[in-house]
Amino acid sequence: MKRDFLHITDFSSEEIIEVLDLASDVKQKLHARDPYKPFSNMSLAMVFAKPSARTRVSFETGFFRLGGHALFLGPNDIGIGKRESVADVGRVLCRFNDMIMARLFDHSHIVELAKYASCPVVNGLTDFNHPCQIIADIFSVREALGSLDDIKVAYIGDGNNIVHSWLNLSLRLPMRFSIACPEGYNPDADLLEKARSGPSEIELCHDPFQAVKDADVVYTDVWASMGQKEEAGQRMKRFEGFQVNSDLMESTGKKTIFMHCLPAERGVEVTDEVCDASYSIIFDQAENRMHAQNAIMIKLMADSNMI
Ligand code: CP
Ligand code: NVA
Repeated sequence: MKRDFLHITDFSSEEIIEVLDLASDVKQKLHARDPYKPFSNMSLAMVFAKPSARTRVSFETGFFRLGGHALFLGPNDIGIGKRESVADVGRVLCRFNDMIMARLFDHSHIVELAKYASCPVVNGLTDFNHPCQIIADIFSVREALGSLDDIKVAYIGDGNNIVHSWLNLSLRLPMRFSIACPEGYNPDADLLEKARSGPSEIELCHDPFQAVKDADVVYTDVWASMGQKEEAGQRMKRFEGFQVNSDLMESTGKKTIFMHCLPAERGVEVTDEVCDASYSIIFDQAENRMHAQNAIMIKLMADSNMI
């Protein structure tokens, strides 16, 4: 049986810790230029229906550094769901490749792709979630704080794909997770309810200052995600007061790190001052995408008896 990674909850709590430990090990190996090549003679198909910098570069470079070859298939190459059905793309790509990573709009399409692909499929972001990002994020939190015990994470902004993956993570690792969104921009109600029945303490409010109180981590993301850029002007008005700036960071009452999945719209959801502060770990997060994803791919290949 092949294994996919489409949601954080596809891994158990123990498996998430296993992946974080593996990421740490693979990171050390890459930094030491260790000739570790688990993906030698393998290829990864990367399907992008949306733009990307970090996801493309981290998957392509990571797969190559571990001995394999990665192919970039952009929006005009495959036309997934348009030129060819999602199911047929899944069936075909696995005849050439050992793994598929896809960044798609509709979440049901990644689920369908994985259903028809005979090789492992990794979710590189959908409108609903971004699990590889949040594995890299929690890995970065553990590196920065030294432990994940009793952490409080505050998310300020839009109730989007990033928050959904944090809510899924909260079902696996106990934490205090506070969300402050403008009214009408809450995360998915079903997922929120599910997260509230899990091991974490979940707070949803509409006041950024309330959410960040006692937070170890303050996290934000763009106010208009890919596919919503035409709403950017209207959102700019609705999100007034939700910018992460020095005043908000100073109000936590403790030493707090700042995180952003990037790309950031500097001066909109976050100021330059916060992005470039000594407490900002945004570029560690970006680098850790590669190490976290390498660990995820090694685990999927191993669990699928491919390496
Ligand atoms: N954080 C992230 O996924 O960045 P890209 O959209 O550039 O891939
Ligand atoms: N919420 C953002 C994340 C980008 C990595 C988007 O979907 O555009």
